[in-house]
Amino acid sequence: MLSTLRAAVAFERRPVHTVTLGASRAELFQLHALVAGRIHVVASQRLATDILQNGRDLYLTGRANRRMLPVLPENTLLTLDGEHHRQRRRQLAQLFSGERFTQTAAALAKLIATELDTWPIGQPIAVLPRLRALTFRVAVRLVLGPQDERAVRSLERQLAAAVRPYGLLAGYERLSALGPLAPEAFAARQRARFAQCLGDVAEASILEMSADEVLALLLAGRDTTASALAWALLELARHPQVADELGAQPSDDPGHAGWLDAVIHEVLRLHPPLIDIVRSPVEPVTLAGQTLGAGELLMICPALIGRSDSYASPQLFMPHRFLGQHPDPRNWVPFGGGSRRCIGAPLAMLELREVLKAVTRRFTLSAARGPIEAERLYGTAVVPAAGAALRLHPRAAR
Ligand code: HEM
Repeated sequence: MLSTLRAAVAFERRPVHTVTLGASRAELFQLHALVAGRIHVVASQRLATDILQNGRDLYLTGRANRRMLPVLPENTLLTLDGEHHRQRRRQLAQLFSGERFTQTAAALAKLIATELDTWPIGQPIAVLPRLRALTFRVAVRLVLGPQDERAVRSLERQLAAAVRPYGLLAGYERLSALGPLAPEAFAARQRARFAQCLGDVAEASILEMSADEVLALLLAGRDTTASALAWALLELARHPQVADELGAQPSDDPGHAGWLDAVIHEVLRLHPPLIDIVRSPVEPVTLAGQTLGAGELLMICPALIGRSDSYASPQLFMPHRFLGQHPDPRNWVPFGGGSRRCIGAPLAMLELREVLKAVTRRFTLSAARGPIEAERLYGTAVVPAAGAALRLHPRAAR
């Protein structure tokens, strides 16, 4: 029991390091997480591809997502399965391609510039919380249309309350005996408050989305994109020549777009924001010689796949490996894969491109906490432990 707890704490504190240790021993190994309990981690690229691309509903994702993050509401794109999921996905796909998306893209440069105006020069700052506020604002813009700053802030406060640590324990069955004091009941009350706040600030009428759907979308879009941006800025601080190339080139130069995408693909390979892509088999399956029962929890860890030796020098940041080349979906899975691939990827890529362009054009960066920042878990996002501590200098002044 004590060793299980110790392992679970190690996973929270050093998630990628912990799975890397397990992967050095076996293609499929077990891990214990505080809430989700036993997880079978898939360490091989071949097995991961088989699972992600499985086209016959052998694995459930919605159910598995709820086990990893029980605070997620039940009836959302993230947590549905089967035909209900397919229908909801068709409906929400419009958000990421239609008029609302174009309007959000057009508003992005201003949102970013307004945020960057507040970043202090010369003193150490943790950029992660600031990036989180920015990515939240962008997701709100997309999902709900233009909102004033006060509305965005109160929605963010309610979202933070809905995913407080006590609520995250909602999956602990033993605590359900606490009735109204149980984490499950606490989480439900926080979700109801979010819904009330949403009703006060906006009419979520665009796609007739429920408050729970809005909550899940805002949550899915915020921490992932903020984490990707934070790791990207840390890597640019460590590799000033890469940042200089981005900052110096005019953005309408086709070479610039190719180089920018190569940098982003490399950041997402080395630092995929989510520790997990989860699935749960509907019937017993045999993987790497082990038979797992229906309902077991399987985890594909994008960092393990991205740092596999199918890449030359996989631990090194080398963006030119992706120059003129699309990532291969067999060994690059930061957005997951198959029918559940991240629906928000077009927005995330757009944000990454625009923020990296704007930052490198304005500033040069240096790390404020030594060359390498440790990792930790924030929900299921892998984030820099010191919040991506950086010092910014005006680019022209150097
Ligand atoms: C760099 C940023 C992002 C990363 C790395 C990321 C990663 C992921 C991953 C790994 C999954 C699970 C895929 C699977 O199970 O195969 C996922 C699903 C999802 N993501 Fe993202 N995401 C990002 C940004 C966003 C944004 C901006 C939004 C929306 C505003 C979003 C909304 C969603 C939703 C709704 C799902 C569930 C899709 C489904 O189950 O059909 N994500 N994302």
